[in-house]
Amino acid sequence: MLKILFAPLQGYTTGIYRKAHAEIFGGVDAYYAPFLRIENGKPREKDLRDLNACEGNAQFKKTREIPQIIANSVNEFKILADALIAKGYTEIDFNMGCPFPMQVNRHRGAGLLNDGQAVQEIMGEIAKLSSAANETAQANANETAQANAKRTAPIKFSVKMRLGQESPDEAFALLPILNEAPLAQITLHPRLGKQQYKGAIDFKSFEKFYEECRHPLVYNGDITTVPQICEMERRYPKLAGVMIGRGMLARPSLAAEYQKLRDTNCAVSLNHTIAPQDFLGKLLQMHQVLFDNASKTYQGDSQILSHVQSFWEYLEPNVPKKLFKRIKKAGKLSEYQNAIIEIMPQSSSK
Ligand SMILES: Cc1cc2nc3c(=O)[nH]c(=O)nc-3n(C[C@H](O)[C@H](O)[C@H](O)COP(=O)(O)O)c2cc1C
Repeated sequence: MLKILFAPLQGYTTGIYRKAHAEIFGGVDAYYAPFLRIENGKPREKDLRDLNACEGNAQFKKTREIPQIIANSVNEFKILADALIAKGYTEIDFNMGCPFPMQVNRHRGAGLLNDGQAVQEIMGEIAKLSSAANETAQANANETAQANAKRTAPIKFSVKMRLGQESPDEAFALLPILNEAPLAQITLHPRLGKQQYKGAIDFKSFEKFYEECRHPLVYNGDITTVPQICEMERRYPKLAGVMIGRGMLARPSLAAEYQKLRDTNCAVSLNHTIAPQDFLGKLLQMHQVLFDNASKTYQGDSQILSHVQSFWEYLEPNVPKKLFKRIKKAGKLSEYQNAIIEIMPQSSSK
């Protein structure tokens, strides 16, 4: 069965979102945190704080949280990787796919895909960091494990990438370098950076990459239903997993619904979907967890409001129109809360 990975979405899958999702819906093998970047020569504090949001939560620890780095050079990469290793993370994802012009123009994300030299240097650093950690792990195997747990754990690196910024040739030029690197996984979103998140997915290039990639490969792009996941599983038997972003924001039960089918290997068509009233009920539960955490984490009505309002953005097709409109219209936290309270009875009668 395929692993289901929750894609990172800057501004949406915040620490408190990930935590609330794991608690109420689950079904996800790993949550990828939105990228950590450099600000004034240092790891951005706000991004680091967001990772802290999930620390010490037992429910959340059942799944994995994997932080992600975006960097334009081996120097930036090293600063960010060191900060995450110091925090005790043992899995780190590297972003070579972000299409936002702010990042691409600074030679980060998809803007790095045409620079074989920089990618080679970063892969060299990955090789150093993962083998250094492994050596330390062996050397310390007999020492008091607890005290050394953080620095002895082997570090696994993965890459999340697109086919290129301008052309799929970019990914195929990099593939020999990536194949040689000690990567745990590659996630491929088969679009170009210049397409951003729209336009046709290039399955032809995906299939070529699938054949030539020597690492476990994860597919990412436009998955919104369980039958689509099953179809990916059938079409690409070597696939390690699918990473889902907007489809999970729109239907947070998606991973759990697929998990329900896992025992049957997608072979039988069971009724795996959650009933609409149960879906809305669980959505409101998840919202409550998110709201409580946002109220504790953020200060001021407008900060809290912006965090909780973004929760609903991709849910429009899956929630009653009236609920969606009232939530979007709320300009104050009190108006927002009234809208939610009024919707509560509707959720059980719908
Ligand atoms: C608003 C937004 C923010 C995103 N932030 C990140 C990010 O921080 N890191 C990353 O690797 N991808 C990011 N992505 C890309 C998604 O992880 C994913 O690759 C993309 O949405 C395609 O998958 P989907 O069709 O399942 O949503 C972002 C996408 C959107 C729309």
